[in-house]
Amino acid sequence: MTVKHLKILHQHNSSINQTFEKDGDDVIQGLTKSQKSLPPKYFYDDRGSELFEKICDLPEYYPTRTEAWILNEYADEIAAITGSCELVELGSGSSTKTHYLLSAYQKAANSLTEAVPDAFSYIPIDVSGGILKTTVLHLQEKYPDLCLEGLLGTYEEALLYLGKNHGRSRMIFFLGSSIGNFTESESNDFLSKVSHALTKGDYFLLGIDLQKPKEVLEAAYNDSQEVTAAFNLNMLAHLNWRFQGNFDLDLFRHQAIYNEIDHQIEMYLHARSPHQVSLDILDLKIQFQAGESILTEISRKFGLEAVQAQLQSQGLETVKIWTDPQKMFGLVLCQV
Ligand code: AVI
Repeated sequence: MTVKHLKILHQHNSSINQTFEKDGDDVIQGLTKSQKSLPPKYFYDDRGSELFEKICDLPEYYPTRTEAWILNEYADEIAAITGSCELVELGSGSSTKTHYLLSAYQKAANSLTEAVPDAFSYIPIDVSGGILKTTVLHLQEKYPDLCLEGLLGTYEEALLYLGKNHGRSRMIFFLGSSIGNFTESESNDFLSKVSHALTKGDYFLLGIDLQKPKEVLEAAYNDSQEVTAAFNLNMLAHLNWRFQGNFDLDLFRHQAIYNEIDHQIEMYLHARSPHQVSLDILDLKIQFQAGESILTEISRKFGLEAVQAQLQSQGLETVKIWTDPQKMFGLVLCQV
């Protein structure tokens, strides 16, 4: 089966002369700071995306199944409130949880008295070509009538490409608490871009992981099967491949800790011994001391009031919030 509905955004945007930071500049910046860090986007090569899918099924990693429970329970209500025609998913991955929304919107479209062709469309966006291609193929098969266009690119590229909607009511959604992987200022920047891609009356649906005890959180990010460790270390393998590097994965160990002051999980890779690493394409050599760490990810955990205030500061008014009975996870629907 061929993929009919996939667009590569990097090519599109470079053809309209949009300038983006040079590939790898963020790696140089991160690895030359005193607290070394790497941007979490480098987790997601094809292997990293596969490992993330495995994380989502781990017994300790509650966010995916809890959010899926909320979506399953309330997707019909979300479709009824929004009645959106264009569903745009940022960071769609395998779109597993999206099926709840697609089915609910399809049901709502089918219940219209007159058959409306292309009643709604779905636009999944992801940086990982492998997973996006598989997802689009799968959706083509499962929903043959669905109007579908997968966009391969970053959120920025996608929001720029989409621009404001053209007469079709739009709902952008960002699930899985991926917003937690941004710093507060990055998330403000992100929300402002989302807000600009929406027209008055359009919706934004945001999944957020809520604050909870340290033990539950640390177990979720230091799982007993060590899949999260493999996911963290894979970032180094990705950098080796992408920038002709020589990171030795055996010389690093994974650790995730919950910072209770900043309400965030922090994932680190600690060097086991002193050594030097080169990334030839970036013309970079980095020295590691024993025990020195690279911060690879933060995963912020939210309070509902603070999130609503942050959304409001970017012009997004909360319409409704759904949670699971134990208040582990939240889905916030807001409107411009
Ligand atoms: C994608 N993101 C929301 C995940 C999280 O929980 O912050 C990434 C992850 N990192 C380790 N486990 C999962």
